[in-house]
Order: sequence, then structure tokens, then C-alpha cells
Amino acid sequence: MDTSIKLLLGLTAVLAIIHIVQAQDQKGFISLDCGLPSNESPYKHSNGLWFYSDEKFTQGGKTGRVRENPKGYAKQYTTLRYFPDGIRNCYNLNVEKGRRYLVRAIFVYGNYDGLGMKPVFDLHFGPNIWATIDLEKTANGTVKDMVHVATSNLMQICLVKTGKTKPLISALELRPVGNDTYITKSGSLANYFRYYLSESSSQIRYSNDVYDRIWNPLFMKTWTQINTTQNVDNSNSFDTPEIALQTAVTPTNSSAPLTIQWTSENPDERYYCYAHVAEVEDLQANETREFNVTWNGIQYYGPFVPRRGLVDTIYTLSSRSCDGGKCRFQLIRTDKSTRPPLLNAWEVYTVIQFPQSETDESDVGAIKSITAIYALSRINWQGDPCVPRQFRWDGLNCSNTDLFLPPRITALNLSSSGLSGTIAAAVQNLTQLETLDLSNNNLTGGVPDFLGNMKSLLVINLSRNNLNGSIPQALQREGLKLFIEGNPRLCLSDSCKKPHKKKIIVTIVASVASAAIVIAVLVLLFVLKKGKPAIQQGLVRTSTMNVTFAEKNSRKFTYPEVIQMTNNFQRVLGKGGFGMVYHGSVNGSEQVAIKVLSQSSTQGYKEFKAEVDLLLRVHHTNLVSLVGYCYEGDHLALIYEFLPNGELKQHLSGKGGRSIINWSTRLRIALEVASGLEYLHIGCTPPMVHRDVKTANILLDDNLKAKIADFGLSRSFQGGGESQDSTVVAGTLGYLDPEYNHSGRLGEKSDVYSFGIVLLEMITNQPVINQTSDNSHITQWVGFKLNRGDIVEIIDPNLHKDYDFNSAWRALELAMLCANPSSSRRPSMSQVIHEIKECLVCANSGIGKNLELEPQEITSSDTSMVPMAR
Ligand SMILES: *[C@@H]1O[C@H](CO)[C@@H](O)[C@H](O)[C@H]1NC(C)=O
Ligand SMILES: *[C@@H]1O[C@H](CO)[C@@H](O)[C@H](O)[C@H]1NC(C)=O
Ligand SMILES: *[C@@H]1O[C@H](CO)[C@@H](O)[C@H](O)[C@H]1NC(C)=O
Ligand SMILES: *[C@@H]1O[C@H](CO)[C@@H](O)[C@H](O)[C@H]1NC(C)=O
Ligand SMILES: *[C@@H]1O[C@H](CO)[C@@H](O)[C@H](O)[C@H]1NC(C)=O
Ligand SMILES: *[C@@H]1O[C@H](CO)[C@@H](O)[C@H](O)[C@H]1NC(C)=O
Ligand SMILES: *[C@@H]1O[C@H](CO)[C@@H](O)[C@H](O)[C@H]1NC(C)=O
Ligand SMILES: *[C@@H]1O[C@H](CO)[C@@H](O)[C@H](O)[C@H]1NC(C)=O
Ligand SMILES: *[C@@H]1O[C@H](CO)[C@@H](O)[C@H](O)[C@H]1NC(C)=O
Ligand SMILES: *[C@@H]1O[C@H](CO)[C@@H](O)[C@H](O)[C@H]1NC(C)=O
Ligand SMILES: *[C@@H]1O[C@H](CO)[C@@H](O)[C@H](O)[C@H]1NC(C)=O
Repeated sequence: MDTSIKLLLGLTAVLAIIHIVQAQDQKGFISLDCGLPSNESPYKHSNGLWFYSDEKFTQGGKTGRVRENPKGYAKQYTTLRYFPDGIRNCYNLNVEKGRRYLVRAIFVYGNYDGLGMKPVFDLHFGPNIWATIDLEKTANGTVKDMVHVATSNLMQICLVKTGKTKPLISALELRPVGNDTYITKSGSLANYFRYYLSESSSQIRYSNDVYDRIWNPLFMKTWTQINTTQNVDNSNSFDTPEIALQTAVTPTNSSAPLTIQWTSENPDERYYCYAHVAEVEDLQANETREFNVTWNGIQYYGPFVPRRGLVDTIYTLSSRSCDGGKCRFQLIRTDKSTRPPLLNAWEVYTVIQFPQSETDESDVGAIKSITAIYALSRINWQGDPCVPRQFRWDGLNCSNTDLFLPPRITALNLSSSGLSGTIAAAVQNLTQLETLDLSNNNLTGGVPDFLGNMKSLLVINLSRNNLNGSIPQALQREGLKLFIEGNPRLCLSDSCKKPHKKKIIVTIVASVASAAIVIAVLVLLFVLKKGKPAIQQGLVRTSTMNVTFAEKNSRKFTYPEVIQMTNNFQRVLGKGGFGMVYHGSVNGSEQVAIKVLSQSSTQGYKEFKAEVDLLLRVHHTNLVSLVGYCYEGDHLALIYEFLPNGELKQHLSGKGGRSIINWSTRLRIALEVASGLEYLHIGCTPPMVHRDVKTANILLDDNLKAKIADFGLSRSFQGGGESQDSTVVAGTLGYLDPEYNHSGRLGEKSDVYSFGIVLLEMITNQPVINQTSDNSHITQWVGFKLNRGDIVEIIDPNLHKDYDFNSAWRALELAMLCANPSSSRRPSMSQVIHEIKECLVCANSGIGKNLELEPQEITSSDTSMVPMAR
């Protein structure tokens, strides 16, 4: 341990690094000139932007200056910072969570070290890889830019050594852009092309572009430039620079299409394309310019007539791919048109996924303030504390390195780290900390009370410090190992008499309060493990129950009737959460499924009553309906409609002799399930959350129509659509909203999460949790495959490739969106329904793999953008 502690800087110097400095101008622009000496910082660029030294945004590195500058680089690219030490070195930038940014990093080698060896290294964005920077491949440096919505208030951009050469960076630029532009269904947008079409040779940037996008000129021999000196109104939400819109190109052969094509290195790449078009010529009354817009030969917009002096931006709402990596964008003149098509400016982005969640934000805040308080300066304590795993800060251990869940810090080991001062209060914000080792330091002061309130703690080692006072009562609890030897002035009780010579393990009988918590935790674990609901009392207001029962006598059956219906409980259909389910028939004809409450469980009884109460007021074609009930002394039974085709789960796996359903049926079932859930969420009063959506709870009737079963866990919530605190632990492991872990609440969006998992199962037929795999959760498995581009492998092989690729892809995107760990990013059930309907249109049109039947969007300067309600 001692050897890994590098050095202790002066407190002020370290604080300067930790408390992230602001270098934003009033527009929120952050402009860092890396390697700029701090005494020259900041300076005003000729375009009016202020550039700052990067010194306070990163904790290591050395500065360099380019020696070869043939192009006459702008000042901000002539100095650089390189990183000879450490594997991962990071920049910390303060941003606004939820805001959309253009993030740009510029790398210019310029033979700064005189070695003529251009470096190769990786660029990471938080815990995820953004790009590999290979300066060997570029003559004059490289620019990486992307549009990204900040997921937290801290943006970390890291350079990672991958070989012998030293990573370097010349400039870092952040520009907030409009929040209604460059919207993706998932992922961020890496810039692929950004051109204005002109014979010119100069770049367009700030201040011509309010967002400081870099527009390069593009011109081909087969084109003719046309231009105007008149104003072009650029006021749609993309704010394309007017100067870029004042020129345009048309094909010289006026009957030929305007074509731009390229071949991608990565054939699985997904693209978003934005064409900015404005008429720049004055056409005669008898002339028209009209064209269709196509991608790889498939039309996605048109016919379109550009407007004189007004920009329109043509783009699609979802990404598209290129067959075999060959991409072709074309504007094709229509028969009616007397003029060739024209294009002013054009952007293409590729979708870049950042699947690995950042470490829990409050854990990061806590560990950073601990770092600051103890003035720790460890070379590897940079970037995300927990992930990626190989760069986890030493002295930490973290839970779930699952891609989609934010990791939590579970162990903090600062043993022998030369700590002085008191035990930092920030420790209490590590709310899932299990092991805390502060042994062998020079800590002084008392043992703080808050340690006793941290119920997750299992081991605390405070040995060999200089602590004094007494040990808080709350630390003397069962299950907590506390080591305090070698603190001569510390004692167990208030009567501080003799110092402890031996190692002491304090394990004192748990207080009533903590015992209750332990029990609650055990119940939770038990429930999660068994995948069964645990029920608490007081689930349903009894008064409501009584009224309901009294009113619904017509559907009441006696116990002897139940015995008769089931032919003395002859045929078992299954075992539910609180009792057996039997087959039966009413009047010898109508088939029913009868759930009988096992008499041993009083909690089950409460839940049973809840289910009756709910089912009696819920009516929807995609919810299993209640035929009647029996409520006679100890005998309680629910009588449902019988669904002969059983559980959806079996129709995916083919188990139990069930048929495997095809792709479009799966989509239809997904739509039906979504409709049932939407009804629960917004259709019935008061609204309800199902809370245990899973494939085993989705039943199919004769016609394979889906109906959702098992409302035992549903619970009403009143008021404005927000969930209320729930007191009941519910759900099934794997389907349970990950936010439940810290919020302890299950709301509508929890059902959306579970639905997402169901949809993933329907697409992939993979187990929700696969114990034998590294990527044990289905979202991880899909994320892993997506990352490697194995899209075809994701889809259930039982479908034998008999599905429309595009609809499967969209369904997959939708499922992943629903299963987003952050509930705020999940769509509503209504949005889900809308999207599935579109998938169905795709799937049923049946033209095959490359069908693009998407809604088209165009933005105009006089109409507001159509929101992407998905
Ligand atoms: C903390 O780190 C030290 C040195 O690496 C090690 O000896 C000690 O066992 C660790 N403590 C815990 C609780 O793992
Ligand atoms: C690099 O800059 C030089 C000098 O301006 C130029 O001749 C060359 O074409 C540039 N190379 C690339 C790939 O841009
Ligand atoms: C966009 O930003 C504005 C203000 O910056 C805010 O009022 C609006 O709600 C945002 N819209 C979305 C869709 O986030
Ligand atoms: C278009 O630009 C060229 C120079 O690039 C200029 O000579 C010409 O006058 C411009 N045409 C119009 C209509 O502004
Ligand atoms: C012009 O384009 C049309 C349509 O693509 C083509 O048939 C024709 O041969 C072209 N003319 C010339 C001169 O290239
Ligand atoms: C449009 O009208 C003008 C005269 O007004 C004529 O010279 C020109 O040929 C016409 N163009 C077309 C495409 O008909
Ligand atoms: C342009 O699109 C319209 C509407 O989809 C279609 O009718 C027409 O045939 C297309 N024209 C060309 C030249 O592709
Ligand atoms: C970190 O925690 C995991 C389980 O959470 C455990 O298996 C592993 O041994 C721990 N590693 C260290 C170094 O304590
Ligand atoms: C504690 O501080 C003293 C002097 O301030 C120093 O000699 C000693 O090495 C420190 N102990 C540890 C474990 O850092
Ligand atoms: C703990 O977190 C809360 C909220 O995130 C914050 O207000 C508080 O300052 C933190 N406490 C410490 C000691 O860092
Ligand atoms: C607690 O820390 C002391 C001093 O570093 C060490 O000797 C002891 O083994 C530690 N105990 C445990 C259980 O890690």
C-alpha cells in the first residue's frame, strides 16, 4: 500500500484540482487550450472566444509545443499536453446534466518531442471508449466531435495509453447546442461529415456558426456552384450558418441526380443525416425546382421544393444503415422539375453508444470530497472511480459492474495513506459502503456517530490511529466488525479508563431498530432470491374491500360450487404466488382457472383481497378478467377466465409443447401487453402500477391474444401520475426496476422497465438472468452484442431470420430504451404503443431487410420542430 501512495501535494494545490474550475463564457462554451502556460491564460481568440489553460482541469501531464507547423495552426492547437505517467489521465469538466453539448477534442502532434513518432492511444468518455486516436494515420492532426447529452454534472474525458507512445491532446471544446436538435433514439452522435457545399477553401466556425460547429467546404467536379448575396433566413432550430447557406451546388448535368457516396469501414454503422436546403436562385414563374431525397436508393422525403431564402432541414427520426458499408445519399429531380436539385449544407453522424453507466453520482461526489479533504493525490485516482474495471481506483471495491446499472462503492481502503485530521463526514455519503479501512493513519478526533447510521457497513478498521473519545452506541451492533486497536485514547464506554491493548471486535446485541432493518433486508433478499412477492399488511383499505364484496355478490360462488367446478381440484394448472391454480368449468361449458388461497398464509390473504378488489374494477381486453370469486370462511378462491395457450414464456422457448410464435405475432403481443399496461397507468381510476410484469405473467388465449395476469402486486396510486412511496417489496429479480434499489419506489416507469425486459426476451429468447455468463443480465448481454455489432445474433435464432430486420432493430432499440436504468429516460407506455405500431407497419409491409418506412421530418424556419415523441 505504502508504495502506491505517490506523493502528498500541498493542500491548496490539490484542492485546486479537485474543485473543478469553471472556464465557461456566458454562452456556456468551455474552451481549453491544452498545454497553455497558466500565466498566458486566458486569451481572446480572433473569433472573440476566450481560451483557458487546461492546467486546472487535469491532475498530471506535461506541456509541449509543436515544432512543425506547415498549415499555420490556430494558436490553440500549437501547444499540447502529453501524459508520460499513468495509464489513464482525465479531464474533469463541469457541465449541466441533461444539456446537449457539442464535445470536441483536437489532437495535433506536430513533432513536439522531436522524435517523429506519432502516438496511438484511446480516448475515453467517462467509463466508455469514445474513439481510438491514431495520429499515424493523419498528416495534420485529428478532430473528434460528437453531440452528447450530459448524463451528470461532471464530464470526464480521458486519454488512455494503449501502447508505448504517450497520449496527447491539443484542445478541448464544449458548446451547448439546442435541446431540440440532433435528437437520437439512443446513443450519442459522432460527427462523420459536416460540409457546406462550395468551391471555397475556408472553414466556417464561430462566430458565423453560433454553436461553433466546424463546417468544411465540399465540392466535386460534376457539380456547379450557385450562390446568392441576399440574406438566407437560417432560423430553424439547427441554426445552420447563413454564410454556409448562401452557396449551394447542383449537378452540372441538370438531369442527373446530386449524389454523395462513400464506403464505411464499419458496415454496421448507423447514421443520422441532416440536409440543410434553401433556394438561392430567383426562379421564373414557369420554373420549378423539385426533388426527392433518397438514402441507398430508398426515398425518405419528397417531392420537396426548396423555398427562396429560407432554410429547411431534412432529416429522419431514426438511424439508418448502409448495406455492406456502401452508402449513397441522393437528391433526385422529379419529372415536374425544370431545375436540377440543390444542396447547401449537409451533415452525417454515426450513432455511438456509451453502454457502461457511470458510478453513482453521489458516490463520486463523496469520494471526490474525501480525496480533497485528505489531499490524496494518487496517479490512478482519475476518471470514473469504479469503471471500467481495469481502471478502478486502488483502495476501492465496487458493486455491480453491470453495464446498465451505476456501480456503487462498497469498499474504501485508505489504510496507511498518511491521513490526518478527523474522519471525513463525506464518508457517510457512500451509502452502500460495506468495508471501511482507515487503519494505520494519523486520524484524530472522535469516532463519528454517522458511522453507526451507515447500515451497510460490515467491517470498519480504525486501528492504529490517534482517535479519542468513546465509541457510539450505534456502532455496537450485530453484524458489524469494528477494529480499534492501537488508539490509546479511545474507549468502548464513556468511562474512558484504560486503553485497549488487544484487538477488539465489538459485536453487541442488535438494538430493536437495527434488528428490524436486518429483518427487512433479509425479507428483501429472500423475496428477490425466490422471485416471489413478499407482502405486507395494510395493502388494501379494508373498508373499500367490504363495499366491493357486498356489491359484487352476483359473481360470488360457494365453496361446494368451487369443488364441483374443479371436479374436486383434479387438474392443477400451476402454482401462483399464494396458492395453487386449478382448471375448472362453470355450467359445464365455460372454462375457468381457479386460484385457491393457501390457508397457511395470512399475508397471502391480504394480497388475495387486493387482487379481488382490483380485478373487479379493471376491465380491458388485454387484462385477464375475473369471472367470480369465493369468499366463504377459510375458503378463498378467485375464478378467472381460462387462457388455453398458457404463458408467453413457453411460446418463446417452445417448452411444454408450446408452439413458437413468429415475429409479427410477437410484435402484436407486445402491443397488446403495452395496451394493457397503458390502461392500468392512465386508463383506470385511480391509476395503477402492475409491479410484476414478466413473461410468466402474460397469458395467451385461443387466438394468441395476450392478457396480463396476476394483479396481486398491483397497487393503486392516486394523483398526478407520479408514484407514491410503496411499502411493499414486489417484483421479480431481473425484471425489477434497478432504481428500486435506491429509491425503494415502484412507479409506472418500473412497469416500463419490466416491459422492456419482456420485450428483450421476446426479441432474443435469452434468459433474463444467466448465471453462467459474465453478462448475466439480459440487458448486459444485449449491450455486449450491440457493442460488438452482432445484431443478427441478438435476435432469437428460433425465428430463423424470418423477420423484417428494420422492425426488429427498432423493437430492440425500444426495448433498450424501456430498460434504461434511469426511469426518466424511459418512454411512457403510450409512447411505447406508438412505436410498436410503427414496428408492426414495418414488419407487415414485408418488403424485407432494408425497408425504410419511417416518418419523415422536415424543419422549417416558420414551423416549429415536430417533437420526437418516442
Ligand atoms: C487495505 O489495504 C491494505 C494494504 O493493501 C491491506 O493490507 C488490507 O488488508 C486492506 N484492508 C482490507 C479491509 O481489505
Ligand atoms: C497537411 O498539411 C499540409 C500542409 O498544409 C498539406 O499539404 C497536406 O495536404 C495536409 N494533409 C492532410 C491529410 O490534410
Ligand atoms: C429545452 O430547453 C429549454 C430551456 O433551456 C427548456 O425550457 C425546455 O423544456 C427544454 N426542452 C426539452 C425537450 O428538454
Ligand atoms: C457567386 O460567387 C462568385 C465568387 O465565388 C461571385 O463571383 C459571384 O458573383 C457570386 N454570384 C452571386 C449571384 O452572388
Ligand atoms: C446526364 O444525366 C442523365 C441521367 O443520369 C444521363 O442519362 C446522361 O447521359 C447525362 N449526360 C451527360 C452528358 O453526361
Ligand atoms: C419560361 O419562360 C421564359 C420566358 O418567359 C422562357 O424563355 C423559358 O424558356 C421558359 N422556361 C421553361 C422551362 O419553360
Ligand atoms: C418522387 O416522389 C414521389 C412521391 O413519393 C413519387 O411519386 C415520384 O415518382 C418520385 N420521383 C422520382 C423521380 O423519384
Ligand atoms: C470486491 O468485491 C467483490 C464482490 O463484491 C469480491 O468478490 C472481491 O473479492 C472484492 N475485491 C476486493 C479486492 O476486495
Ligand atoms: C503520524 O504523524 C507523525 C508525525 O506527525 C509521523 O512521524 C508518523 O509517521 C505518522 N504516522 C503515519 C502512520 O503516517
Ligand atoms: C452528502 O450528500 C449531500 C447530497 O448529495 C450533500 O448535500 C452533502 O453536502 C454531502 N455531505 C458531505 C459531507 O459531503
Ligand atoms: C486493521 O488494521 C490493522 C492495521 O493496519 C491491521 O493490522 C489489521 O490486520 C487490520 N484488521 C483487519 C481485519 O483488516
